[in-house]
Amino acid sequence: MYHLRQAILALCLLFCLMPAAGAFEHYQPLPGQPPLPADNPPNPAKAALGQRLFFDRHLLGEGSPLSCNSCHDLASGGDDGQALSRGQHGHRTARNTPTLWNIGFQTVLYWDGRAPSLEGQLLDHLRDPTISRAPNLGATIDWLLAEPGYRRAFARAFPGEDPVTGDNLARALADFLRTLLTPDSPFDRYLGGERSALTSEARRGMQLFEDTGCLSCHFGVNMAGPAPGPAMGLGDGFYELFPNHLGSAYDRRYGIADDLGRFAYTGNPWERYMWRVPPLRNIAETAPYFHNGSVATLDEAIRVMAKTQLRLTLPEKDVQAIEAFLRSLTGRMVLPEEMRNGGE
Ligand code: HEC
Ligand code: HEC
Repeated sequence: MYHLRQAILALCLLFCLMPAAGAFEHYQPLPGQPPLPADNPPNPAKAALGQRLFFDRHLLGEGSPLSCNSCHDLASGGDDGQALSRGQHGHRTARNTPTLWNIGFQTVLYWDGRAPSLEGQLLDHLRDPTISRAPNLGATIDWLLAEPGYRRAFARAFPGEDPVTGDNLARALADFLRTLLTPDSPFDRYLGGERSALTSEARRGMQLFEDTGCLSCHFGVNMAGPAPGPAMGLGDGFYELFPNHLGSAYDRRYGIADDLGRFAYTGNPWERYMWRVPPLRNIAETAPYFHNGSVATLDEAIRVMAKTQLRLTLPEKDVQAIEAFLRSLTGRMVLPEEMRNGGE
């Protein structure tokens, strides 16, 4: 674990000190597809199955009022607009529901990065009694086996194997989630050379984002540190402290220091208040903000970040400009076929 932390620090130094070297671009356009893991090669039958499961309430147990889409509503930014979500039997989730758009570009999953792969995260999620009424995956598998439509769909997606298994269920969902991309944001068009895609205020905000230091943590494809690739592989997380500077009035106002972050999971004293640097694409669509959903608006989230991370109180016009830049990160949410056709 210790060597991992050193590796992370070394990477941070590399990214923070060598921005102009050209070896690594801090601003990166959204690629056409995310990196794909060798043990889950994509195929259309798999993604179609994953999509069907995503919208099917039965997946989360008999009588479940929820599907995946209830909390991660793809038609409204990929989240549900709640600070904490209402899960099964009225239980609230422990943390805010993140968006799933562009999720394939994350190296680790969850706010604290405790899941090293999408497939692993999904298996864990399906065993969580707040998410599923059938946290025993056996019951879910029995139900899938009893549905001829699903039996056929699994056989098409996983030919030549014992198709209906928990692992394959997670693979199908993950394969579908990797298709959720939001291309054509003004930011991406700007990076592609269309200068007028950003307003002058957003361009000023982009400069401020860099000059004030936001970019030293929020960079890369998802503005969340390196996407899976040569700099950081799947399972390696890019973590930072939040709050980086304890003791501002925001700590108490928004309960920022109530949750110990990675420490609660790893027990490592140096990981108190350590969190995954979260993605900022489509951030204007995913209020409220932070792991506890305590901040309702994007401008306030910017003030909180400036203070807690950089010890800065920004002039209001700079907050507005950074907000205009962050709004330019909203892309076209290409909805799955069924939703566009008015299906469930
Ligand atoms: C009751 C609300 C709820 C439901 C239903 C739900 N999720 Fe989640 N999901 C969450 C919350 C909350 C988190 C973040 C938890 C954390 O970080 O500790 C999350 C995290 C995730 C993540 C990781 C996101 C990231 O940024 O790391 C993925 C992927 C995901 N969910 C997919 C799904 C899928 C697929 C389903 C259906 C099987 C589903 N979720 C059902 C609330 C929900
Ligand atoms: C030292 C690293 C660091 C710096 C510098 C930093 N951030 Fe963050 N940012 C984080 C972390 C870590 C979180 C996750 C906080 C949490 O767990 O709730 C975050 C969260 C956010 C969020 C909320 C994301 C969400 O989904 O709710 C926004 C918006 C944001 N940062 C914008 C900025 C802006 C704008 C700046 C510059 C003023 C900035 N950040 C500077 C590390 C940083």
